[in-house]
Parts: sequence; C-alpha cells; structure tokens
Amino acid sequence: MGLHIGQIAPDFTQESTEGPIKFHEWIGQTWAVLFSHPKDFTPVCTTELGMASKLKAQFDKRNVKMIAVSVDDVASHNKWIGDIEDTQDTKMNFPILGDADKKVATLYDMIHPEANDTLTVRSVFIIDNNKKIRAMVTYPASTGRDFGEILRVIDSLQLTDSHKVATPANWKDGDDCVIVPAITDEEAKTKFPKGFKSLRPYLRMTPQPNK
Ligand code: BEZ
Repeated sequence: MGLHIGQIAPDFTQESTEGPIKFHEWIGQTWAVLFSHPKDFTPVCTTELGMASKLKAQFDKRNVKMIAVSVDDVASHNKWIGDIEDTQDTKMNFPILGDADKKVATLYDMIHPEANDTLTVRSVFIIDNNKKIRAMVTYPASTGRDFGEILRVIDSLQLTDSHKVATPANWKDGDDCVIVPAITDEEAKTKFPKGFKSLRPYLRMTPQPNK
C-alpha cells in the first residue's frame, strides 16, 4: 500500500553507516528527511550525497536530520563514502541505511517496478517532529534532486505550523505569504500586524510574519 501525507512514517530498525538505527527513536524530537538512492557507486547519487552533506548546516538550522537509504549493504556504503568524499570535496555527515534486504525500500514503496524491478526511484519523505509524513517527492533515477527545493518545502511547512500562512507559487523565504482560508479577516487583523492585501476574499497576501 502506498504512503500518504498525514500518515505516521513507518518505523523500522536497520543497519546504517553510523550503527543500527531504530527510526522513530533516531528521529526523536526533530524533523527528518529520508531519501532513497537507486544504488551505490552510481554517478547521480554520488553528487546528491555530496550536495546534501554540504548543506547539513542548513538542515540543522531547521531542526531536520537527514538520512539516506540505498539498496546495498553498509560495507558497500562505507567504500562508496570514500568516493563521495574524494570527488565531491566534502565529508559525509549523516547516516546511509544499509538496505540489501530492501526492508526500508519496501516499507516506503520506493521500488516502482515499471521503472526498475530492483532499484529504488529517488524518493524524498519529509517527516515532522510528531513522526508524521508532511511531504513526499518522487524523481526518476536519472534526475538528481534539488536540495534547495527540499529546504524550501521545509521552510513552507514550518511556517504554516508556526504562523498559519501558506506559501504561493515559487515562494522563497522572505516573500509574501498567503493567509489560510480558515482565518477570518477579523482574526487576520490581529494575527498579521504588518497588514494584508485582499485581492479576492479568498486570496489575501501578507508579508512573511517571521521576517
Ligand atoms: C545514478 O545515480 O547515477 C543512477 C542510478 C540509476 C540509474 C541511473 C542513474
């Protein structure tokens, strides 16, 4: 069965490059991003893991832990990490789950047989501090992910949680936001002291509240 936004992220225990991981316990009180790689020693994945490592401080700032999974074992991952560090000019700074038995890939529906019977697609799960799946993204193996976009989605989700705003098309941190329909104009006047513009009764824009 496929996973849905709003569902609790399935728990598992699996080996990783940083020792055994009980997923929910490992997440603890933070947010998490779980992302899959089709296979070790593949070129696009090598660049993705390098990029994610370089951006770790940005994920830390948002209280988000990263964890990758690839359907090879930890011994293979450890050899691959040498290549990632050499070629991408970085140090790996988050765990990669060993998943030779495809436990995690199966639990998270990361294998799409129409794309490939054995390799995973590039899945991303953004999971909040209540272990709830808040966003899911799927790319084909041939397309490397944009980790800036993953950070942008996290910013949007965390802003919705803290300030009851949604974010419009192509929004970036600092841009105007959308007041969610559940808030009345009266409530909006006190909640958004910087004011808001009503383009339509259902389309109200306000400066980003936490800037
Ligand atoms: C890659 O990571 O480079 C890759 C993996 C599987 C298929 C195509 C590309």
